[in-house]
Amino acid sequence: MDKVERIGVSLEPDLLAEFDAMISEKGYRNRSEALRDLIRKELANKQLEDPGAKAVGVVLLVFDHHVTKLTEKLLNLQHSHLLHTISSLHVHLDHHHCLEIIVLQGSVNEIQAVGDRMISLKGVKQGRVNLVSGQD
Ligand code: NI
Repeated sequence: MDKVERIGVSLEPDLLAEFDAMISEKGYRNRSEALRDLIRKELANKQLEDPGAKAVGVVLLVFDHHVTKLTEKLLNLQHSHLLHTISSLHVHLDHHHCLEIIVLQGSVNEIQAVGDRMISLKGVKQGRVNLVSGQD
């Protein structure tokens, strides 16, 4: 870790008790690490509010691969954004259903747009896009 600065934080006892309970439940060993993560999370969320910000996105889809041309459409969408598709993982869940995880890199709005197009395809039963801020 780089040089650190110590800060003092004043909290009401009830708020501190809730914070301690939460971080203990999550497995943090000390308040400092939990506070650092909270600050990083807020900073990353702030960055992701900018549609043009660099990000990495994970598109998670559950779909019925028997639906006509769905697999082809999903592949075409990935190939049309080849520069941004870092990786994908396909799991055959059962006779009908597949789970696909597609990792995309690009701007927040690009990733969201591609993810939304995938999720809105007929045959996609569940889908979500999760973003983390890109590292510069
Ligand atoms: Ni499959």
